[in-house]
Amino acid sequence: MPNIVVIGAQWGDEGKGRIVDLLSKGVDIVARYQGGNNAGHTIVIGEEKVILHHLPSGILRENKLSVIGNGVVVDPGVLLKEVAGLRAAGYRVDSSNLRISDRTHIIMPYHREIDVAREALKGEGKIGTTGRGIGPVYEDKAARRGIKLADLIDPECFRERLADVLEERNAYITKVLGGEPLSFDSIYEEYSEYGEILKEFSCDVSGLLNKALSEGGSILFEGAQGALLDIDLGTYPYVTSSSASSGGACTGTGVSPTKIDVVLGVAKAYTTRVGEGPFPSEIHGDEGKRLRDAGAEYGSTTGRPRRCGWFDAVALRYAATTNGISSLAITKLDVLSGFESINMCVGYKYRGETLTTFPSSCSALAECEPVYEEVPGWSENVSDVTEFEELPEGARNYIRKIEELTGVGVHAVSLGPSREKILFLSELA
Ligand code: IMP
Repeated sequence: MPNIVVIGAQWGDEGKGRIVDLLSKGVDIVARYQGGNNAGHTIVIGEEKVILHHLPSGILRENKLSVIGNGVVVDPGVLLKEVAGLRAAGYRVDSSNLRISDRTHIIMPYHREIDVAREALKGEGKIGTTGRGIGPVYEDKAARRGIKLADLIDPECFRERLADVLEERNAYITKVLGGEPLSFDSIYEEYSEYGEILKEFSCDVSGLLNKALSEGGSILFEGAQGALLDIDLGTYPYVTSSSASSGGACTGTGVSPTKIDVVLGVAKAYTTRVGEGPFPSEIHGDEGKRLRDAGAEYGSTTGRPRRCGWFDAVALRYAATTNGISSLAITKLDVLSGFESINMCVGYKYRGETLTTFPSSCSALAECEPVYEEVPGWSENVSDVTEFEELPEGARNYIRKIEELTGVGVHAVSLGPSREKILFLSELA
């Protein structure tokens, strides 16, 4: 099996979890490499729906090692609840199938506090974050005042690091954000306990992965969020704070780019976005609501309604180029059944010009008007189709049009949330 990076090719929520769940059957290790519990990966197994926030989707398969890389940020209380929930549902989660990098940064209570207070202060200009403390924890990492798992599990080191950083963060919370200071003692006590429990999972993940590779093992790198939410290449500042691009798989696990064989981009057959920021192909009004209802487009982490729009080939081409996407998985094609015609965004109108490339400036993107190509839809319910050739002509043409517009071959098409509702069109390239 090749080493595969699976990334979201849009603004997140593309259905990566179910694709990773399927592909994980053939690999030895599944590794998360960025983001934290802002992610919500939904997997449907039979009648059961599992939503994973921290844990790699491979945790649901027997005999697979799941790994949380150094690029991920972990909220220990949330992680341990997730572990307890899975154990209660009959899944095995222990240090034989879950390892966490000792370099992983820890989300602390002041990160959540700062995230929520800042968004409230910004009002109209807010990012629309998930409120999980993601921006502030990556900010501390970059500012070199973060607390890593290795620090958390060493009581003396943790005491020193926490005392240092809490003094500074409390000053910020009280003087800038107008909040109440957080207590050192209660954080130290609660988080020391987490450290005690998490000790068994902690390891040098880079060393572990490189050893596995040298012994012929294969790894599936599971991205969270999406290419357009990447801190460097996304629609900044309306992005998350981590490297959601394929490159993040390397920096977020300590495995080199030369070890990656395939980059699989997961994209919905249409587009959604949660939170603020420009979205040229957004559909407002009743048609947007129709798509939201048909696709049950509500956030699996925050429950927020997702903004819905047509497939955007300009944005996807950009994601494909910047991430080296070698194959696509198109999800939720079934949701488009019943639309008489479908719009595909093939360019942007910007100040009298037609753009076919994605603008790097967010304010320019906000001014862009979509240029649509209208294609015929299909009326049939496709959710029970088992072969690509059995899809209605409109649906087959739609997939071929995505390939033509993006220049990337489609490997798989999903027609529903459960494991078996997927068609494979070609080998993974
Ligand atoms: P943060 O990651 O909580 O800081 O949020 C920053 C932006 O990324 C907001 O627009 C969020 O809605 C968005 N975001 C974060 N995680 C996800 C995700 O898993 N799916 C979709 N959007 C996300």
